[in-house]
Amino acid sequence: MGVRAKDMSSLMLLVIPSNVDTVLVIDRSETEITLQWKNVNNRNDYRYELRYLNEEISAITPSPDNSIVEQNVKNLSPGTEYSFMLYTVFENVMSSGYNFSNVTIPSNVDSVLVIDRSETEITLQWKKVNNRNDYTYELRNRNGEISSITQSQDNSTVEQNVKNLSPGTEYSFMLHTVFENVMSSGYNFSNVTMPSNVRNVIVLHKNDTDLTFQWDVVSNIDNNTYIYILEYGNGLVNYINHTAEENKVTHHISSLIPGTNYSFTLYTEFADLRSTGYTFFQKMTLNCASFNWTVTNSTIEAKVNGCTHVTAKSSTGSIKNGLVQGNKVNLQDMDPGEIYTVSLFYELESDRLPQCSHQLRLFPNSVSNLRCEYYSGGYGLVVIWDRLHGVVDVVQVGVNKKNFNQSQNLEPEQKDLSSVGIEQSTAAARLPENKDKNRFSNVLAYDTSRVHLITKNESDSDYINANYMPGYGNAKRQYIASQGPLPSTVSDFWRMVWEQKSQGIVMVTNCTESGRVKCEQYWPLDYTPCLYGNLLVTVKSEDKYPSWTLREFNVKNKTTSETRTVKHFHFTAWPDHGVPTGTEELIQFRGLVRQHIEKAFSAGPTVVHCSAGVGRTGTLIALDVLLQQLDKKKEVGIAAFVQQMRLNRPLMVQTESQYVFLHQCIMDTLQPKVMPDSEPLYENSEMIYVNAMAIREFEKGK
Ligand SMILES: *[C@@H]1O[C@H](CO)[C@@H](O)[C@H](O)[C@H]1NC(C)=O
Ligand SMILES: *[C@@H]1O[C@H](CO)[C@@H](O)[C@H](O)[C@H]1NC(C)=O
Ligand SMILES: *[C@@H]1O[C@H](CO)[C@@H](O)[C@H](O)[C@H]1NC(C)=O
Ligand SMILES: *[C@@H]1O[C@H](CO)[C@@H](O)[C@H](O)[C@H]1NC(C)=O
Ligand SMILES: *[C@@H]1O[C@H](CO)[C@@H](O)[C@H](O)[C@H]1NC(C)=O
Ligand SMILES: *[C@@H]1O[C@H](CO)[C@@H](O)[C@H](O)[C@H]1NC(C)=O
Repeated sequence: MGVRAKDMSSLMLLVIPSNVDTVLVIDRSETEITLQWKNVNNRNDYRYELRYLNEEISAITPSPDNSIVEQNVKNLSPGTEYSFMLYTVFENVMSSGYNFSNVTIPSNVDSVLVIDRSETEITLQWKKVNNRNDYTYELRNRNGEISSITQSQDNSTVEQNVKNLSPGTEYSFMLHTVFENVMSSGYNFSNVTMPSNVRNVIVLHKNDTDLTFQWDVVSNIDNNTYIYILEYGNGLVNYINHTAEENKVTHHISSLIPGTNYSFTLYTEFADLRSTGYTFFQKMTLNCASFNWTVTNSTIEAKVNGCTHVTAKSSTGSIKNGLVQGNKVNLQDMDPGEIYTVSLFYELESDRLPQCSHQLRLFPNSVSNLRCEYYSGGYGLVVIWDRLHGVVDVVQVGVNKKNFNQSQNLEPEQKDLSSVGIEQSTAAARLPENKDKNRFSNVLAYDTSRVHLITKNESDSDYINANYMPGYGNAKRQYIASQGPLPSTVSDFWRMVWEQKSQGIVMVTNCTESGRVKCEQYWPLDYTPCLYGNLLVTVKSEDKYPSWTLREFNVKNKTTSETRTVKHFHFTAWPDHGVPTGTEELIQFRGLVRQHIEKAFSAGPTVVHCSAGVGRTGTLIALDVLLQQLDKKKEVGIAAFVQQMRLNRPLMVQTESQYVFLHQCIMDTLQPKVMPDSEPLYENSEMIYVNAMAIREFEKGK
């Protein structure tokens, strides 16, 4: 059509000019678009008119060579799409109009806020440009990585979380606004990630006031050096720099308060941004084990800097204060052999801050004034020494190259057992119906350990004057210590033997001594069976030896017809006046009893009785148990065992001579000796095997 117009211009003045072929956008900014098109038909008499919005630019003229037209459109809004209409104009006649549209460059964001930061992430926020929802954004980081961000429609702000960053590093970003594939110039900003905490903190040196510690240098991918900030105590702050060459940082702190548990927090700082902080505790305290303690039998001393008080607590809980003078701590007048817990303190504003504690044992005292006392013409001796002051576990006594451990605290001269157990109740023994069943009014069976007879009806009494006794080791009811039966309690006695399934009775008295009845004869005089209650007792055999008689009884329960054998060990060698000559017979006799107990291991307790059932009975039971202890442990604890017996029955082994006798038995067991023909050991100590108090009481009662 344009060609036709050229050819026929003179003829057809009203011919409509052609539109432009196409329009190029050759430059663009936020407010301007520069357009370019080819001059239609290269006519120098054509003009152009550009219309957009309500604007109009008319009389646009081609360039001098007539081939190209350029038009710069100004005062546009950024990031906006404009529709244009371009008309070719010839002699006031306009072409139909060429329709096109194009966009201006969008604006950059105004600013970017960093709303959250961690070691590896930064969260950004900005206002939507022009509050437009049809823009997108493109974020480039320092590594050239691009993230395309599509905003949400609801908010007037856009948020973007940037991940996978390195700690403590500065990142620069460029944020573009994008509209119709046209990007804004880019908004530049930078920010830093949070630095990491220090690692591998170790204490190089520490005493009560000073602390030196070290940690690994923290650095980032740019090899920046960081600052470290240490906070501790009540608002103390240290800023710590280091040189780039170091890979460890060492820091020393002094003038700390001894005995104080400090909390230290170490921060890494980079570009004014602190790490979360690494917290550790150090108690500024002395190490008690590191001092050179000097210990004697009564003093403790050491050179110590940095404490103001020293105390020592004994094993019984008593506390002693020591002295601190200069750099010396000193404790005096302490108990030899005792274990003390020594504690050091630092006093601050009248608070005693504990520093450290240490256990120390004082040296025990040496045995002094060791002497022997001979008995019985020299065949027995007692080793005696002055009681040692302080704590002594054992005193080791060497006899003929053999060592014996003697527990000093259990020596009968030294431990009062008279009140052990006596507070226990004896209610059953005191009941009116039972009172007469007691041979002595001061030897009553304790309720807790007494042997109960089996009762058939309510009027039947279960009381008998007998108590269970412990044996060696864990045996709680190895024996029954019983009084010698009274005429009225013989049946009860046999009932007990039957019910307790006893297979042995040990009798350490004669029925009559010095014209006094010590015990009712509770077995048949000859081989004629006797009925006691419903138990028929027959003497099957009787063997008499110089110091004892052994019997075997058949006991038949008339109700059930069950028959059992019971051995009777009767020690007869107590003369009317005095005591046996030496220990050998009793030791041998005890051997027979022990042999029987060990054979009949499934039997019930062995019944042991004398008259009151406490003195000789206690001595025999103690002898049996202590000789077992000696055999198995190579030590004996006489008082400890007597104490144990006394918790079960009153007055078990009481007189000093009985203790001495037990000692003697033990010594004689260790060193079998030639029997002397000299006078008896305890010639005039009539009471040795009978409880002295019990007899006195009995005599009073007569
Ligand atoms: C990083 O962002 C925080 C929070 O907006 C700002 O306080 C800090 O100045 C910024 N740091 C840098 C290096 O621009
Ligand atoms: C933004 O950062 C880029 C890349 O570092 C740089 O080329 C450009 O000049 C910066 N722009 C401005 C406005 O500073
Ligand atoms: C110091 O205090 C901290 C926090 O209370 C505690 O965990 C730590 O055991 C204390 N250290 C010592 C030695 O008392
Ligand atoms: C400590 O031992 C010495 C020498 O053996 C002695 O003289 C002193 O009395 C003992 N001290 C105490 C408190 O027993
Ligand atoms: C603690 O150690 C520092 C050296 O680190 C030393 O100067 C100071 O004397 C020490 N204090 C004591 C009480 O030993
Ligand atoms: C005696 O006691 C000491 C110290 O307790 C111990 O080492 C030793 O084995 C004991 N000796 C005997 C024979 O029990």
